[in-house]
Amino acid sequence: MAAPVANGVSVEENVVENHQAPSNQSIEDQKRPQFGTRFLTDPRQVFQHNAWDNVEWSEEQEAAARKKVEANSQPLPAEKQEEYDTNADKYWNDFYTIHENRFFKDRHWLFTEFPELAPKYKSHESAQEGDTHPDRDNGMVDISHQDGEYPGASSSYRIMEVGCGVGNTVFPILKTNNDPGLFVYCCDFSSTAVELVKSNPEYDADRCHAFVHDLSDMSAEFPMPDGSLDVIILIFVLSALHPDKMQESISRLAQLLKPGGMLLLRDYGRYDMAQLRFKKGRCLSDNFYVRGDGTRVYFFTQDELHSFFCDAGLQKVQNLVDRRLQVNRGKQLTMYRVWVQCKYQKPHPDHKDSKTGNSEEKQCES
Ligand SMILES: C[S@@+](CC[C@H](N)C(=O)[O-])C[C@H]1O[C@@H](n2cnc3c(N)ncnc32)[C@H](O)[C@@H]1O
Repeated sequence: MAAPVANGVSVEENVVENHQAPSNQSIEDQKRPQFGTRFLTDPRQVFQHNAWDNVEWSEEQEAAARKKVEANSQPLPAEKQEEYDTNADKYWNDFYTIHENRFFKDRHWLFTEFPELAPKYKSHESAQEGDTHPDRDNGMVDISHQDGEYPGASSSYRIMEVGCGVGNTVFPILKTNNDPGLFVYCCDFSSTAVELVKSNPEYDADRCHAFVHDLSDMSAEFPMPDGSLDVIILIFVLSALHPDKMQESISRLAQLLKPGGMLLLRDYGRYDMAQLRFKKGRCLSDNFYVRGDGTRVYFFTQDELHSFFCDAGLQKVQNLVDRRLQVNRGKQLTMYRVWVQCKYQKPHPDHKDSKTGNSEEKQCES
């Protein structure tokens, strides 16, 4: 049975991305180790819970998924493809005009999976490092990071979210990370989404800078200089780009990282339920589809992402696949979700592998 669809994007898809966290699960969520630990060991128990973690796929299941994808791989004509490419931002504007900030919900897994977004409050000494605000540590004075050659110039910890939508990652970061040296940038190519972020009562221009930016446009400038960011986060965003634009977009982002800075990503994995559910006539190219509302989505393998990040000169810290079995107990339905999660770090220029003496970039190529 088909899942409920909101303007082409499945509601279940969103709910599942949020790991279905009803309010009575919040304490459980806080304790939840990465990716959860509810394993389905007895298939007869499948409808006992809403979700099962780290589900193994059998060879037959993988082969059936591959067959289904191959049967639906006839690409749309070139004119149609171009139309979706040229107007990509407009389709997302329409999406946000319809759904405003009701669609993507805050992610309860954000800080368990990506503790880099709110590292433990720094010691008094390290918080002062690079601190140009002598009054900062008395906790009584408003701190503005807007006074400098660029927004956030005087900050000591800079995070940027690309493809921020309506701020479901940015606002939790601002709320959770109480480092006075924090500054958060967020951008999206949908001007409607950026307006929604800026009009949110939680938007604080002294700690945050939202701007319109098309990641796939190599001529578009970022407001901060190269080598200035500690963390860049992409959540279900790279998949929305044309595959031909992915490598250069990641390489451009890598330039913005400080040495030691981290690029974090969570996105759709190959054979996710959303991929298998696409009807014929929605395929743009291999594993790349257009939804009913004109927004596009790609489904990654771990190797593809590894190659993008390594070619951008980054070093693997984490690259894993999260396979989850989602259960609709009322309807006795099972849904297999697949997400990939990556953390890649920009090496320090002089860093050599201790065993080989090679630079980390070289090590990544092998
Ligand atoms: C699936 S939504 C995810 C939104 C947000 N990251 C979240 O998790 O709620 C994808 C977002 O990427 C944005 N996007 C797509 N292509 C983009 C591009 N080339 N440059 C910047 N943003 C883009 C869309 O406007 C949309 O807000």
